[in-house]
Amino acid sequence: MLTNNSLKQPIYLDNAATTQMDPKVLDAMLPYFLENFGNASSSSHVYGWTAAEAVDIAREQVAELIGAHSSEIIFTSGATESINLAIKGVFENYKEKGSHIITCVTEHRAVLDTCEWIENTGGKATYLPVNTEGFIDLAELEKEITSQTILISIMYANNETGTIQPVREIGELAKKHGVLFFTDATQAVGKTPIDVNEDDIDMLSLSAHKIYGPKGIGALYVRRKNPKVNISSQIHGGGHEKNMRSGTLNVPGIVGLGRACEICQMELESKQDAVGILRNLLERELLKIEGTSINGSQKHRLPNISNISFANVNGEALLLDICREIAISRGSACSSVTSKPSHVLKALGLSDEIALSSFRISLGRFTALSQIEFAIHNITRIVEDHRSIVG
Ligand SMILES: Cc1ncc(COP(=O)(O)O)c(C=O)c1O
Repeated sequence: MLTNNSLKQPIYLDNAATTQMDPKVLDAMLPYFLENFGNASSSSHVYGWTAAEAVDIAREQVAELIGAHSSEIIFTSGATESINLAIKGVFENYKEKGSHIITCVTEHRAVLDTCEWIENTGGKATYLPVNTEGFIDLAELEKEITSQTILISIMYANNETGTIQPVREIGELAKKHGVLFFTDATQAVGKTPIDVNEDDIDMLSLSAHKIYGPKGIGALYVRRKNPKVNISSQIHGGGHEKNMRSGTLNVPGIVGLGRACEICQMELESKQDAVGILRNLLERELLKIEGTSINGSQKHRLPNISNISFANVNGEALLLDICREIAISRGSACSSVTSKPSHVLKALGLSDEIALSSFRISLGRFTALSQIEFAIHNITRIVEDHRSIVG
C-alpha cells in the first residue's frame, strides 16, 4: 500500500510543509475508524471506554515527547488552532493584569495574524526584530517587558530557515518578570529535544502532520503548576478538553498524533543525526555553485531545513523548473503561491530580489541519500541553465 517515494518524481524535499504519514502511524489509527469507532465521551458503554483509553494513551505519548504531564495536553485541530487558543486565551483571561504581548517579526502568520487581531481588539503587541541569523536580542526582549506585559510568544524554530531561538533564556526571562511564555514549536517538536520544564515554557503548540502523523490534529501544552496557566476557551460547547476546547474528540487523529510522537521519541537522536548529515551534504555541494548562500543560523538550526539563495537568476522561473523534478518551496506553504518576498528573509536583511530567489529545502525521515544526490545534480544543472539564459 505504501508507495516507494524515493523513486517517485518529483522527489519530495518539502517536509517542513508537511510529511508523508509513517505507515506505523496509519496502522495505529485504522482500528479507530472501524471497529473502535466510539465517542471518547460516551461513558456508559465499552465503545466509549475503548476510545477514551486510546485518547489517554495518546495524551501520555504527546506529553512524554516534550517533558510535560498528560493532564497538560489539550487536543486541537492543529498548530494554527493551538496558537489562536494560546494567544487569545491568555489575552482574554489575563485582562486584569494587562494586554501587552511581545512577539517577533519572523513568526508564522498564525502568530502574526493572531497578534494583529489582539491589536484590533484593544491589546498591544510588540514585534521584536531579529539579526541577520534570525535571532532575537534577549536584552531587547527584556527592555520591552512592562507591568502590562502578559505574554511572550516566540517560536521555537523558524519554519523557513530552521533557526532555533534561545528558548531557555527566553523562558528564564519570562519567569523572572512573571510573564507567561508561549512557544510555537510546530517545526521543532520531534526534530530537536524539548523539555517544557527545563525551558520554563508555559504553553507550546505542535501539529501531527509535521511529524509523520495525520493532518487536522495537533495539541496545545498548557502548564498546570508553577504557574498554573488559565486560558479562555475559543470554541464553546460540550466542555471537552477541560473546558478549554469543546467538540467531539477526533479519536483516530489523536491516536495518530500519539503514535507519531512515540516514534519521534524513539528515533529522535538517530534519525535527526542522519537527516543532518544529508542536509549538510546537500548544502556543501550546492554552495559550490557561484552566488549561492545559506540563510539563517548555521549553528543553532534544525537539522532538516536548509534555506538557500541563488543570486542572478529569475527566482520564479527557477522555482518552477526545479519543482518539475524536486518538490521544494519558497518557505511557508501559505506564502509560496504568492510571489511576495518572504517576511522572514526580509527580516534577516535580504533584498526583495534575493529573497525571491531563495528556497527552502526540507528533508525528512524518509529522505534517501539517492534523492539528495539527485537534488544536488539537478539543482546545479538547472541553476546553471538559468544563469546562461540571464547572463
Ligand atoms: C511554525 C509553524 N507554525 C504554525 C504552523 C501551522 O500549523 P498547522 O498546519 O498545523 O495549522 C506551521 C505550518 O506550516 C508552522 O510551520
